[in-house]
Amino acid sequence: MAGNHEAASAPQTISVSRSAWRWWKNLAARDGRVAATRQLLTALFEFVRDSTPERRRQHYGDAGYDWDHRVNTTSAAVGWRDRLLGVFHSPYQPTEAVLFHEMIAALSAEARFGFCDFVFIDLGSGKGRALLMASDYPFRRIVGLELLPALNYAAQENLSKYRSESQKCFAIESICADATEFTFPVEPTMLFLFNPFPEPGLKSVIENLERSLRDHPRKVYVLYHNPLLEHVLTESVALKKIYGTHQYAVYASD
Ligand SMILES: C[S@@+](CC[C@H](N)C(=O)[O-])C[C@H]1O[C@@H](n2cnc3c(N)ncnc32)[C@H](O)[C@@H]1O
Repeated sequence: MAGNHEAASAPQTISVSRSAWRWWKNLAARDGRVAATRQLLTALFEFVRDSTPERRRQHYGDAGYDWDHRVNTTSAAVGWRDRLLGVFHSPYQPTEAVLFHEMIAALSAEARFGFCDFVFIDLGSGKGRALLMASDYPFRRIVGLELLPALNYAAQENLSKYRSESQKCFAIESICADATEFTFPVEPTMLFLFNPFPEPGLKSVIENLERSLRDHPRKVYVLYHNPLLEHVLTESVALKKIYGTHQYAVYASD
């Protein structure tokens, strides 16, 4: 495992009520109190609806990867408290393997970089599936940051169990921390984002990245899977879009 990391301190416990309050406050500042309260009630209703055994069973649809690799990255096996926290931070969902490899292939065709110069960073790494899949490429090292301790624990278990003949990178770590406070390492970076934060969190991350690029100009690629808040990247002065489909967008520093 790589030793040096640049993470904010690991959260002790994440409070559901504090998370809900912050979520509501951000929405109220943007849309007003009535609209924020309505959105809170809708989110809670959807959470209850998605908690029925029938709905829960549908989540096992993402477990094929786990079966093939003998790991536990499925969203079906996440406890109710972590699922509720996911309503206010970002619900855990692993990236699909075929799409992950397609994204990396598209990026390397577009950019023609040397993997071994780059650190792969997944902000909001969940149970670590993207970290495992990234280890099929010869990255210099791989780092994941996950807010929820239970998911980070599952990621660490997965990293220790994972065996694959195609694995090329073995310097992998999963850190429990708030990724919105992450200080980027001063290395060429491939940043992977799969909708890890609501808009204020994504804005902080992109501002941190811009500051880091101003102080230490270097090559950074951002691979944004399911780019729901793409306008945050589009507005960035330090990043330019180099490729995209309806499923992902790729940005690069100058
Ligand atoms: C959609 S999942 C993506 C999982 C993983 N990156 C993948 O592609 O397989 C988003 C993850 O971001 C995490 N998350 C949300 N807010 C976070 C924060 N502030 N810091 C770190 N992780 C966060 C959630 O707990 C969740 O596990």
